[in-house]
Amino acid sequence: MSRLSDRIGHAAPRPAPTAEREDEMERFLEFFYRRTGMHFTAAKRYFVDRRVAERMAALGQSSLRGYLMHLRYDDAGGAELQALINAMTVNETDFYREEYQFRCLAQSLLPEIVARRAAAGEPASPLRIWSLPCSTGEEPYSIAMQLIEGWAGLAEHDVEIHGSDIDTTVLARARAGLYDERALHLLSSALRGRYFQATQEGQFRIDPSLREVVTFSQVNLSDAQQMRATVGRFDVIFCRNLLIYFDDAARRAAAASLFESLREGGFLCLGHSESMSRISSLFTVRKFADVIVYQKRSG
Ligand SMILES: C[S@@+](CC[C@H](N)C(=O)[O-])C[C@H]1O[C@@H](n2cnc3c(N)ncnc32)[C@H](O)[C@@H]1O
Repeated sequence: MSRLSDRIGHAAPRPAPTAEREDEMERFLEFFYRRTGMHFTAAKRYFVDRRVAERMAALGQSSLRGYLMHLRYDDAGGAELQALINAMTVNETDFYREEYQFRCLAQSLLPEIVARRAAAGEPASPLRIWSLPCSTGEEPYSIAMQLIEGWAGLAEHDVEIHGSDIDTTVLARARAGLYDERALHLLSSALRGRYFQATQEGQFRIDPSLREVVTFSQVNLSDAQQMRATVGRFDVIFCRNLLIYFDDAARRAAAASLFESLREGGFLCLGHSESMSRISSLFTVRKFADVIVYQKRSG
């Protein structure tokens, strides 16, 4: 029986699950996991089969084995791997998603960092915040909005906001800063009015004053070397709703990379269903009003 979703995107039909095909799929999933940290359980097989079938059709490959060979040996420059990654990621996000964490940033985290630096007599340097993964940009732009709206310290301190993701398609959309109504559904009309311009096509363009303060770059959290080489150290990292796609081994490796990317005493904010406690002992658990945050242990 065909499914309604089979009609989406004119995708190739789902192949029959033979033992040989299962074996090839296992090898393919291992290859993909090694490069991205993303781990797909059996429950996600329908999603994986569909996305892989679409990529194979786009490349004119009829066998999964041939497709994997192409990825391993013929994908000079990694163009197909990137197209596959872009197809396999789940990019769901919203402006002001889990907004209480942004409030905590403005009311507790940044004031604490500023006070600690002043007490240590550290020279003034920009406060650095990283949204990894940032998907289509709603998270780093929300951070910028929250700081403008709710942190008086902004008048005295330079703040840098970076957004990174493994997916190049969402990064292009983040840089463009053009959104559908759905992405704004948690925002008050006052915030919409202050930070967006409605376009004639019914979309919403983020105000240039916000677009200019957030910089975007491609980063793979599972690539420890790239993490080390990329963008320097941060005071606060938002790594929300990514570790849910990793298995424990990839989470532990990610925890070590995030730890390295933080300044001494820096803070790590995870998504509401994610936790560091079981994964890593590198961080101290800090409890703020309604929010648990992980802090890099000093020394
Ligand atoms: C569900 S979105 C979360 C976006 C945002 N942080 C939020 O909570 O609304 C997950 C994002 O993780 C990105 N992603 C998946 N694997 C990644 C990796 N290894 N490194 C960096 N980003 C990754 C995906 O491309 C996707 O945009």
